Amino acid sequence: MKKNLIRYPQSLQRDNLYAHSSADELLLEHLEQQNLALSTKILIINDQFGALSYHLSSYNIEAYTDSYMSHRSIEINTNQSTKQFFDLSDISQNSKEYDLVLCYLPKNHSFLEDILAILSQSLKPHTPFIFTVMVKHMSRGHFQLIEKYIGPLTTSLAKKKARLIFSRLELPPQESPFPKYLQVDGLEHEFTQFSNIFSRDKLDIGTRFFLDHLPVDLTGEALDLACGNGILGIKFKLQNPSALVSFTDESFMAMISAKTNYRKYSFNDRGNFFWSHSAEAVKDKQFDFIMCNPPFHQGTTVSTHIAHDMFKQSYKVLKKGGSLRIVANSHLGYPSILRRNFKKVSILASNKKFLILEAIK
Ligand SMILES: C[S@@+](CC[C@H](N)C(=O)[O-])C[C@H]1O[C@@H](n2cnc3c(N)ncnc32)[C@H](O)[C@@H]1O
Repeated sequence: MKKNLIRYPQSLQRDNLYAHSSADELLLEHLEQQNLALSTKILIINDQFGALSYHLSSYNIEAYTDSYMSHRSIEINTNQSTKQFFDLSDISQNSKEYDLVLCYLPKNHSFLEDILAILSQSLKPHTPFIFTVMVKHMSRGHFQLIEKYIGPLTTSLAKKKARLIFSRLELPPQESPFPKYLQVDGLEHEFTQFSNIFSRDKLDIGTRFFLDHLPVDLTGEALDLACGNGILGIKFKLQNPSALVSFTDESFMAMISAKTNYRKYSFNDRGNFFWSHSAEAVKDKQFDFIMCNPPFHQGTTVSTHIAHDMFKQSYKVLKKGGSLRIVANSHLGYPSILRRNFKKVSILASNKKFLILEAIK
């Protein structure tokens, strides 16, 4: 296993964060023993940071990921040699050709269900699947979904806390239950919720609190950073109709959800939408206002380092006098983190669980 693969973004790479896991290693060891022909056409799903794509690059591989960070890691680690898909529906165009599907099991069951349903519609019957997962992230729900959409399964022994699950497409094609739709009080149009977006089944309580604390009568440019389904930016636009709002998220489905939801309204513009790590895609713009409900994990790893990076990047893309407004769990200590970059940080509102913080450049 090549150890020095890049975990994008490199600026956040840490000694204890690796671009591969023992789930990758176990799958690669298993494949090595199979003596697959080099012509084997393999679809790799959810390759976390490109370790699978890199090590399997001598086969005929294609990769699907919803994560911008995974996409860039795969691109860098395989020297742009891997064909990638970001839109789940694009897989179905040529999936009849795959001889083998490898999938790093996502923790999010809705996302897995969507992927399996789409593949059930378009793969050749009997196509083999191998799923890999860290045992601590594996659940009965994963097994039930594989048995519901693909077929009977068997598992490997656990090794270094990882396990493989084997199955074959034996079941008839099935419809995906996604996207789903969510009506939010006070907003005219229902939200289209794709399977891998944050809080797909109901409005998040932090978001709900933030919706009551968005500014009014601002003009100029605003950014909904880490936009999810776009709800904050849409509510902001309703209250500030002459402002131009940009939306960024590292989940492709989130970015598409935000775009779909924004365009249900008769706004005076079509908005700007970017699939991006943090504010990277808008680094050449200058904003008057940024709103953010920051993420508290990267993939399956709980962490605030992405949020800290978002605060730094926000500072860079704000005009002088512009402001970053966030909602955050009160225990996270964000006021002092924000003060590392911003001169003036204040608490605009609080409840038992959350703070609304404003940082002015
Ligand atoms: C707590 S959710 C907030 C979503 C939405 N703004 C809301 O309030 O409902 C955080 C969002 O951050 C996104 N995210 C995670 N890591 C990111 C990154 N590195 N760059 C941009 N967005 C990221 C997630 O996909 C998720 O949509």
